[in-house]
Amino acid sequence: MTRKSPSDLRSARWFAADDLRSFGHRSRWMQMGYDAADWAGKPMIAILNTWSDAQPCHAHFKTRVEDVKRGIFQAGGFPIELPAISLSESNVKPTTMLYRNLLAMDAEELIRSHSVDGVVLMGGCDKTTPALLMGATSAGLPMIYVPAGPMLRGNWKGNVLGSGSDAWKYWDERRAGKISDADWTEVEAGIARSYGVCMTMGTASTMTAIAEAIGMTLPGASAIPAPDANHIRMCTQSGRRIVDMVWEDLTPARIQTRAAYENGITVAMAMGCSTNAIIHVIAMARRAGVDITLDDFDNASRKVPVIANVRPSGDTYLMEDFFYAGGLPGLMSRLTDHLHLGAITVTGRPLSEALEGAAVYNDDVIRPVDNPIYAEGALAVLRGNLAPDGCVIKPSACAPRFLKHTGPALVFDDYPTLKANIDRDDLEVTEDHVLVLRNAGPHGGPGMPEWGMLPIPKKLVKQGVRDMVRLSDARMSGTSYGACILHVSPEAYIGGPLALVRTGDMIALDVANRRIDIEVSEAELARRRAEWTAPPKRYERGYGWMFTQHIRQANDGCDFDFLETQFGAPVDEPAI
Ligand code: FES
Ligand code: MG
Repeated sequence: MTRKSPSDLRSARWFAADDLRSFGHRSRWMQMGYDAADWAGKPMIAILNTWSDAQPCHAHFKTRVEDVKRGIFQAGGFPIELPAISLSESNVKPTTMLYRNLLAMDAEELIRSHSVDGVVLMGGCDKTTPALLMGATSAGLPMIYVPAGPMLRGNWKGNVLGSGSDAWKYWDERRAGKISDADWTEVEAGIARSYGVCMTMGTASTMTAIAEAIGMTLPGASAIPAPDANHIRMCTQSGRRIVDMVWEDLTPARIQTRAAYENGITVAMAMGCSTNAIIHVIAMARRAGVDITLDDFDNASRKVPVIANVRPSGDTYLMEDFFYAGGLPGLMSRLTDHLHLGAITVTGRPLSEALEGAAVYNDDVIRPVDNPIYAEGALAVLRGNLAPDGCVIKPSACAPRFLKHTGPALVFDDYPTLKANIDRDDLEVTEDHVLVLRNAGPHGGPGMPEWGMLPIPKKLVKQGVRDMVRLSDARMSGTSYGACILHVSPEAYIGGPLALVRTGDMIALDVANRRIDIEVSEAELARRRAEWTAPPKRYERGYGWMFTQHIRQANDGCDFDFLETQFGAPVDEPAI
């Protein structure tokens, strides 16, 4: 392998020349107390840190960044920390999805505009993983991903609590009048009791697992619990490794091949992944010049069984258990028939080497492929006259009797209307109804919020109903569950067929045949379409305006059209 020489370093353009520009750069680094011993001939490594005071999942990044820096110093690099927007899933309104592409742009331009040779990305909370990877992939410098790691298991009176999933579950119990105020406060204090990301198989753990599976983290990094000392060591090892990646010129383009993305999809399926993974992986892959579509997910889901028995697809375990059971290398060691083992990772070595010695230590947490928790994969892509460009359902997380179901629609035009009416005692609804929420997509939400797990009407909750067929152009949290059909494309707000559904129309769902249809004649739909008028764009100025001008639909990954790699050749920084 040819190695770069110090004069080849991108940072040398800022530091090495004997000219006035470089004098300016050097003198300003000296202003901070550095000198040539810090920078001369050394890879400058940007650490994009998504820590903030409003980001509980990344609270430890405030100090973990020092562990990353330690590794970079040890390997002879020069670390610089560049804060990036943090996107706390639990705090940012109206939805972090509105800002995923903003963080991607932030990451790309931070890298492009600074004198850096390589990048460490520190993220984990939901959108931060795809956003950082999208931006850094477009920037194209060698990079390594440091996942925040899952938080510890929740605990309430000896009961294990899972992020999100148990919030919804106990909230339904509370709505049914079965949980006291005092107990509810205790649940609140017990469900998130350490830093780190949601410890169910939500979007965070799904996306960090995918980051590892496509080769962008050190092997075994993604499932290490955030408070575990192994996590500190992983941070330092990642710091050491990125310096060598610069010398080896191991760019994301060399790692993020089609084979790598197929590995990512295989792992996502075996993990019982969050439905959000589809949108993010499509967008990430396209940044890498790999054309992944909804059908790649559906094909994989028919072949790869769900073997990670982690909630919400599994019934008991959480990410902490998954780590003790062998983590992602353990899981991948059971999927070798489905993986491209020659794909290289940030180690510069093939995946097969990363899996040497990988083992499973608990067959109930990581199941053998012949004893899966769900034989047919995590996700199904449906099409039909309601969703010509596709939509998704997570069969592994819904009651089996709903996999084939026909029922009358109960339509809510937007989320406020849903919220105002869903708990009315006189709502005309049965458990056979299909609850429909529209105008909750990329344009309509705006930002495609996680409203897709529509609440079960209170009057049905009181009768013991806990699942129903629900249909929307929204997303749903990876920690959610139920017979929820999501990401209907095109969305209602831009005139997709979902805009034409009326209360009482019969809707037919058939997961085995991958169909979702409205049983209304083409002539009647055409008549309704002629009556439909487009609502105004959501924003008149600012970032939101830009968002509505350029956002793509869910089946295309919700990237901005002008950021997709295919849009044009990347623009390098000008000579200085
Ligand atoms: Fe941060 Fe769930 S809120 S990962
Ligand atoms: Mg989430």
